[in-house]
Amino acid sequence: MSKNKNTYLAKQIVAWYQINGRKDLPWRKNISVYKVWISEIMLQQTQVATVIPYFKRFIKEYPSLRSLIKASEDDILALWSGLGFYRRAKNIFLAKEKIKQDFKGRFPKNFDDILSLPGIGQSTAGAISSIALNNPHPILDANVKRVLKRFYGKDFNEKELWDLSKMATPQKNVFEYTQGIMDIGAIICTSKKKDCDLCPLKSNCSSKNIPLAKKIAYKKINPTHHLTYKLLIYKKKYLLFKKTDKTFWDGLWVPAEGQVKNYIKNIKTQHSTKVTHKLSHLNLKINIDIIHVNKLESIRTNSEHKWVAFNEIEKVAIPAPIKKVINNEQNYSV
Ligand code: ADE
Repeated sequence: MSKNKNTYLAKQIVAWYQINGRKDLPWRKNISVYKVWISEIMLQQTQVATVIPYFKRFIKEYPSLRSLIKASEDDILALWSGLGFYRRAKNIFLAKEKIKQDFKGRFPKNFDDILSLPGIGQSTAGAISSIALNNPHPILDANVKRVLKRFYGKDFNEKELWDLSKMATPQKNVFEYTQGIMDIGAIICTSKKKDCDLCPLKSNCSSKNIPLAKKIAYKKINPTHHLTYKLLIYKKKYLLFKKTDKTFWDGLWVPAEGQVKNYIKNIKTQHSTKVTHKLSHLNLKINIDIIHVNKLESIRTNSEHKWVAFNEIEKVAIPAPIKKVINNEQNYSV
């Protein structure tokens, strides 16, 4: 790959970022390595627009690593509620435990130490190092892969792409470069359209104005999974159980599955509702029996459970469709 082409790429991207970069994204203001870490984990599998309110809420609750150090896994999962891919929240918990034990409560600055933290792979470690610490480490997410493939005009394999990304990453201004190439991939050179006129790389790009090959969109068909829940409500309290099945929502709080059927004796009213919800690998069809009871029965079960007051709902890690049903029920019953 020509050295000129690499130098041109970095120079153009840095200059473009300084003028056009999305500098108002909340994780790009008052930068700290802690905030960059949280944002990069949220952005691993979720779009920028969806991440923004979750990131703001997370930082409001835990403005610094020091404040996060005391959080439980449940606390972190509660702030993740609705964002999906909950493994990420668990890894944040595990990473801050490791930071507490191995790094005296300070976020490590050395690349291999950053990479040793749960939930942080090569590209995320590169993003944290380059954005927060201005250390020239390459990144390789889907946007960057696309920009590099188009700019160099070849369908490289993974190893070749890493080599390219490494060669293209400049020693100076890596903060602007990394975020600039992410932004160009997200705004100008996307998988669905190319705005070559707006692109700072246009005068040296191997794919300039070459129309996008029409891709046949294969729709991914996920299996459907049926769920039946019993949502017990006493006054404004909701009975929830901690899910321990690893398939999905592991560690989140959901209504009873089978646990309560022998203990519901004091039913006041009962009705049912249905909700559907898409996960990355499953379509859920959920039937929920909503059962208002007259008495707070004690539930004899080994499963971890609790009665959650409605005004505490936001502090508990509840999957989005279940939270929706609880909110509807509360609005309906007042
Ligand atoms: N995607 C992954 N990291 C990002 C960042 N820092 N800014 C915008 N989009 C991103």
